[in-house]
Amino acid sequence: MTALEPPLALLAELTHRCPLQCPYCSNPLALEKPANEMPTADWLRAINEAAGLGCLQVHFSGGEPTVRRDLEELVAGATAAGLYTNLITSGVALDAKRLTSLTAAGLEHVQLSFQDSGAEIGERIGGYEGAHAKKLATAKLVRDAGLPLTANFVIHRQNLHHLTEMLDMAVAIGAHRAEIANVQYYGWALKNRAALMPSRTQLEEMTATVAAARARLEGVLVIDYVVPDYYARRPKSCMGGWGRRFLNISPSGKVLPCHAAESLTGMAFDNVRQRSLAEIWRDSEAFNRFRGTDWMPEPCKSCDRKEIDWGGCRCQAFAITGDAARTDPACGLSGDHARLVELAAGEAEAAADGFVYRRYGAG
Ligand code: SF4
Ligand code: FES
Repeated sequence: MTALEPPLALLAELTHRCPLQCPYCSNPLALEKPANEMPTADWLRAINEAAGLGCLQVHFSGGEPTVRRDLEELVAGATAAGLYTNLITSGVALDAKRLTSLTAAGLEHVQLSFQDSGAEIGERIGGYEGAHAKKLATAKLVRDAGLPLTANFVIHRQNLHHLTEMLDMAVAIGAHRAEIANVQYYGWALKNRAALMPSRTQLEEMTATVAAARARLEGVLVIDYVVPDYYARRPKSCMGGWGRRFLNISPSGKVLPCHAAESLTGMAFDNVRQRSLAEIWRDSEAFNRFRGTDWMPEPCKSCDRKEIDWGGCRCQAFAITGDAARTDPACGLSGDHARLVELAAGEAEAAADGFVYRRYGAG
């Protein structure tokens, strides 16, 4: 096995509390209650340990991280530890006073999520009336504060016809970067797959629109584009490989190799309140389970891409086959691939449009 490198970034999921109800929520099925959230001192220690391990960035996320009243303290702690700080927010609960105090604490970047380019569809998806105007106001505050802004759009069958408008809106609000990410189907999103899955033709149109926009907006807007795995020929290198580049800490302090790892039933995750982050990164059973290439089955084991995509996504393999140790079904070489493609095409055609919303407090 190759030598273990330090993680590049920490995703600090401060809370699962969230005012939005998105049907593709990536948080685990069992949400953490506020009483189980790590207190400030434990978060500060974990952030310092991450910096000590070699992490360069911390992404404060959730749920909605701004519901934590100690966010300024955590940003200040991360800044003092030399980490680049990014806030990932829905923007519906952020006012000028709060943004000023976060900026004073050292906040360096904001990623603002939008559910669509307009209020009607966006507010139906997020299940929050009045969200769109609040998000636009937050974008202005962020730019007025001189912070760089990324606009995040999760895209799917019910909003993909607004892709061009989303990119134009990103430019209009002063974003430097837009992330257009197709829904990834594990956890809660699996419940809504039939309402969200695009068809192959829609995917091809989306990809062409992104290519044209990249040419049109060169030097104005950087566009990151995450395609839906179900129509891929080869899988994405999820998280840059399990336990290679990233670590996540859940609201209660569980240290996870990816944000969806808790969907893998039967795996145990160490808690940063009980063990140091360095020890967990290096020695924990969960991080070592799918690290590197030794765990791989065929066809990955003898594949020349095994150190490029690291066998794809463990959470997707589990969601589709019930076995996290199988080759990612998004790979055309996987024995499960045909079933995945059939499933995607069937659900795209069925054209269901009702959502099972994700309501915090309702499970
Ligand atoms: Fe990646 Fe495995 Fe597919 Fe090869 S066989 S491309 S390593 S998922
Ligand atoms: Fe967990 Fe891909 S999301 S490994």
